[in-house]
Amino acid sequence: MKKIVIAIDGYSSCGKSTTAKLVAAEMGYAYIDTGAMYRAVTLYFLQHHIALTNPKEVQDGLDNIDVSFHYNPKTKRNETFLNGLNVEDEIRKMYISNQVSEVSVVAAVRHAMVAQQQKMGRKRGVVMDGRDIGTAVFPDAEVKVFMTADVDTRAKRRQQELLDKNQLINLDEIKENLQKRDHIDSTREESPLRRAEDAHLLDTSFMTIDEQVEFVLNKVTTTLFEN
Ligand code: DC
Repeated sequence: MKKIVIAIDGYSSCGKSTTAKLVAAEMGYAYIDTGAMYRAVTLYFLQHHIALTNPKEVQDGLDNIDVSFHYNPKTKRNETFLNGLNVEDEIRKMYISNQVSEVSVVAAVRHAMVAQQQKMGRKRGVVMDGRDIGTAVFPDAEVKVFMTADVDTRAKRRQQELLDKNQLINLDEIKENLQKRDHIDSTREESPLRRAEDAHLLDTSFMTIDEQVEFVLNKVTTTLFEN
């Protein structure tokens, strides 16, 4: 059967990655978490004290960054590697969430990440989640979904996710971080977060994960059988 690109974009903590992972497993496709790539760049920039206002430092940093994903059979998940080191847990921490949107605004960072994401999906057969997949990375994606949800619901879900990783964070702090990131992500000049005209809108406020997955798979089935 023809292989397609499934682009899942939307606001922070709407359930994009959980949905995308399950859709990928169902389809036998690769799953690419583009947010993890921006998080890994942020970690590297912090570790190397790179000034975002210094284009040479930024470019040198980008030239030295290799982000890859490897499946870990023990945890049964794809984990993020930065220059060969497993950074999966580190990049999910709050200090990275607090900086990642500022790093993602930088045009050189976006150009480097978008080019890498296009390379990763060039053979199609991928589910990619992020903020600009349907608009900038794969504007020709066969299925595009734009996810949204009420901010209180998102904050609670995010708090639970962090708690599952033994990080107890105050709900207000999480909510503030989500709102700040949404604002920066949607107002930046370079490939801002916005719904592509041909993206299906999915409000997950009152939906279970199974329902979200079913929604996306329905769109995939329709697309594959219409063409
Ligand atoms: O999906 P996430 O919350 O892990 O993403 C972290 C940040 O990375 C998000 O706030 C903005 C940035 N990002 C982006 O600018 N473009 C993408 N395609 C994915 C993420």
